[in-house]
Amino acid sequence: MTLSTLGPRTGADTRVDVVVLGAGAAGMMAAIRAGERGRSVVLLDHAKAPGEKIRISGGGRCNFTNLHAGPKNYLSANPHFAKSALARFTPSDFVAMVDRHRIGWHEKTLGQLFCDDSARDIIRMLLEEMRAAGARLHLQTEIRTVEKTLSGFRVETSEAVYDCQSLIVATGGKSIPKMGATGFAYRLAEQFSLGLIETRPGLVPLTLEPTLLEDLAPLSGVSVDAIVRHGKTTFREALLFTHRGLSGPSILQISSYWREGEAVSIALEPDRDFLELLKTARRENGRQAVQTVLGQYLPKRLAQHWSERLGLEKPLADLSDKVLSSLVSALSDWQIKPAGSEGYRTAEVTLGGVDTKDLDSKTMQAKAVPGLYFIGEAVDVTGWLGGYNFQWAWASGHAAGLAA
Ligand code: FDA
Repeated sequence: MTLSTLGPRTGADTRVDVVVLGAGAAGMMAAIRAGERGRSVVLLDHAKAPGEKIRISGGGRCNFTNLHAGPKNYLSANPHFAKSALARFTPSDFVAMVDRHRIGWHEKTLGQLFCDDSARDIIRMLLEEMRAAGARLHLQTEIRTVEKTLSGFRVETSEAVYDCQSLIVATGGKSIPKMGATGFAYRLAEQFSLGLIETRPGLVPLTLEPTLLEDLAPLSGVSVDAIVRHGKTTFREALLFTHRGLSGPSILQISSYWREGEAVSIALEPDRDFLELLKTARRENGRQAVQTVLGQYLPKRLAQHWSERLGLEKPLADLSDKVLSSLVSALSDWQIKPAGSEGYRTAEVTLGGVDTKDLDSKTMQAKAVPGLYFIGEAVDVTGWLGGYNFQWAWASGHAAGLAA
């Protein structure tokens, strides 16, 4: 059944130029661009509403792009693949569209642009652009089969059979299955013999072993500035202790680089020279406890936990330089081995996906299957946290929409 459509249906068997599968960020952008070129476009989605991930993104305000988005902000087996699309549709191009629709926005931090009011404004904007471009949207449509034909593709759905010249696959990844993520794009890629890079959850909270979790339980809800490091990759943003383990932007960022069994290193409140601060405090008033001094610079619960954990519940005067140094290393190079991640249930993105080796970087077209395109999260291009993933969705959608 179709609750919402843009434009009338043309019958049970329908011939169109372009079928787009998936009415998320990437699919809607591709439908707009193809429609603007005068192509007849149908956009199909099994969900009740388009752009559901846009709606819930950025805490309901959609972090729709990042001013600094460039290839270095993306993970992929081929780090060069995203260059062309990102250069041809930049954050300013998207901002120009947002401005045309008079949607208020602001930069929150680190180049991250958010809507002033609601993420729904972005969905409305995309729907208006689709309407203007003549692209039709059919929701609550189940995709049953996709076949190659002599002139393109045949897509059989619960509602109709579509014959099209070009097929754009924009059904996203596996993250948040509760919202309808299916991994459909990967199955379709396999059907057409395209390679797949192993998928795993990205931008996801990390979990801890039961003993460590119990040890850190009193800190649940505490947030602190941190540098989190994995190999040569570092992120400086907030870290949040939770009842399952560690979260917050710095942890979500590093989770995309971390692999099972590996450690991450954490520096808490990295701007503080804790050794100097503790030595000065000892000189000035040796009767103070470590946690009192740390509590001036760290959240109180964290200061208390850290001094108890290291058995330093003594006056500062009783602690040698060596003991203070080891305390400071525990704060500035806390080595931790996460037990795992919270998985696709809460992951913001899916790493891996359709192998970029098999796609043309200018158009997103499958090299061996003319007319077949993969865009957005389904492709092995995954951005950092902070608006980079939507920028990839817009840019790859733009590239495919201009070619399909
Ligand atoms: P997306 O998943 O958006 O769309 C896929 C569409 O295909 C969906 O409409 C789905 O219903 C449909 N579909 C799937 N399987 C189907 C099937 N078998 N048949 C028919 N239809 C099917 N990024 C960012 O840059 N800034 C942010 O603020 C956030 N915030 C954020 C919060 C949360 C909670 C999550 C989970 C994710 C984010 N992201 C984000 C990431 C961002 O949402 C993501 O990268 C993009 O939505 C990917 O866009 P796509 O269009 O590729 O897939």
